[in-house]
Amino acid sequence: MIEIMTPDEVDRGRVTGRLVGTILQTLRTRTQVGTNLLEIDEWTKEMIRGGGATSCYIDYAPSFGDGPFGHYICTSVNDAVLHGMPHDHRLANGDLLSLDLAIVKDGVASDAAISFLVGTPRDPADAALIDATERALAAAIAVAKPGAHIGDLSRAIEDVLSADGYPINTEFGGHGIGSTMHQDPHISNAGRAGRGYKLRPGLMLAIEPWVMADTDRLVTDPTDGWTLRSATGCRTAHTEHTIALTETGSEILTLPDPV
Ligand code: MF3
Ligand code: CO
Repeated sequence: MIEIMTPDEVDRGRVTGRLVGTILQTLRTRTQVGTNLLEIDEWTKEMIRGGGATSCYIDYAPSFGDGPFGHYICTSVNDAVLHGMPHDHRLANGDLLSLDLAIVKDGVASDAAISFLVGTPRDPADAALIDATERALAAAIAVAKPGAHIGDLSRAIEDVLSADGYPINTEFGGHGIGSTMHQDPHISNAGRAGRGYKLRPGLMLAIEPWVMADTDRLVTDPTDGWTLRSATGCRTAHTEHTIALTETGSEILTLPDPV
């Protein structure tokens, strides 16, 4: 279902989004070489509770995962790109970590993801991969305004990623968001301008370009039935914001509190 949020609901979405952005920023600052993924999950749980919100992940049980996710955040390391299940693993120098967080507060959900390097970067290609997803996200947000179509966002993402020579997988992408984390419309990370649902004020969207360095094929980690990895073992990155369509353009809801 496509939800069009009232101005009051968008206001609440601003509060939820700000909390998501701030939690992710705090996690980024706290994470160091040696941090355990289970610690990140625990910190997230405390910050969600402290913010008066609830997790969208704990009970989440879609067809592509093995039972309820049971954790508060996705922690995807190196070749893992989406749905990385937190487990007893300490981060090493140069690891590329993607964190993806969705919560609901006062009836409105918000969803965002960041990728960053832990410790000292090892290969400039890692930073380039992250940068490409960030530029793809910015390009999609730049074209998100009333009257534009979902296909315009898909095309903007595709143009940035393919200009850098990355293959694109369209099995998972962005989505509408509102009272729950996943709503229609689906936002593919490649597509045709002018096609698809026409954007209007009050629509909230989670836009999430993600990329694998040298393949478009995913494999599910057999040990947890959730974590999606690149089929070749190459590195990956993922960046996501929740935005709200305004009368004239769009507003990013998942920016952190200014420090
Ligand atoms: N937040 C993800 C998305 O952007 C979904 C993660 S589902 C999980 O759509 F349960 F695996 F965490
Ligand atoms: Co999402």
